[in-house]
Amino acid sequence: MNSDRNAPIGVFDSGVGGLTVVREIMRNLPEERIVYFGDTARVPYGSKSQATVLRYSRQIVRFLRTQNVKAIVVACNTASALALDTIENEIDLPILGVVKPGASMAVTATRNKRIGVIATESTIHSHLYRKLIQAEDPEITVFGKACPLFVPLVEEGWTRDPITVEVAKRYLAELLEKDIDTLIMGCTHYPLLRSLLRGILGDQVTLVNPAYETAQALKRMLEELHLEKESSCPEEEKYRFYASDTVEKFLAFANSVLPCEIREAQQIPIEEY
Ligand code: DGL
Repeated sequence: MNSDRNAPIGVFDSGVGGLTVVREIMRNLPEERIVYFGDTARVPYGSKSQATVLRYSRQIVRFLRTQNVKAIVVACNTASALALDTIENEIDLPILGVVKPGASMAVTATRNKRIGVIATESTIHSHLYRKLIQAEDPEITVFGKACPLFVPLVEEGWTRDPITVEVAKRYLAELLEKDIDTLIMGCTHYPLLRSLLRGILGDQVTLVNPAYETAQALKRMLEELHLEKESSCPEEEKYRFYASDTVEKFLAFANSVLPCEIREAQQIPIEEY
């Protein structure tokens, strides 16, 4: 346990996508310090096995501990689905994933009890969104759809491109046939496709952004544990970014997503942790 309220929050993801979670934490908890790690050398996690994602996540948690964080946010849906359960029993720090907050909001949002989930293959195959939703309300039916092409399209910057619209139409067709009224954007990159998805789904389907719900859940957790930040710190010391591969592309993506300018990030050898 680290009871220093002014310590940073550790946030990690398989790569750059978790920056959509960082964005929500910056907006909703503007005082908090953040240490972010993106596993850019080993991304994607979304097509990997549970054993591999667990091994990677453990290394990252060990790295974040060297940064004296007071809490950890698993910003990656895939790591939240495949590794969080195990890791939360192994550490004495508060830790939060993105799946549970997203699932809970979808339960609140649905009226017809038919929820769609779009995510990576590994997240869909874990069925964790469905399990958590049905634990809260067994009458809800959950329809999952893996959308593996969305991650590279978003990283290419094609968030409004006609090709992405075409791909999204194909992915969403079967969910629309199921008459869902709520859709969880269950992958870090998908909130960046929000307006494109809205264009295809129309106004009748509620879009749930687990990144936003996670920032809200983090706020509640820090308050309950009396871990909210007390004193302010200079802007330049507030945020630190690390990645496992070279950082040029990482910085470009960060600066297209985050509400403030990020000038530096450091590459670290994550396999050594
Ligand atoms: N960050 C991952 C997720 O939210 C998407 C990218 C990947 O497959 O690693 O599931």
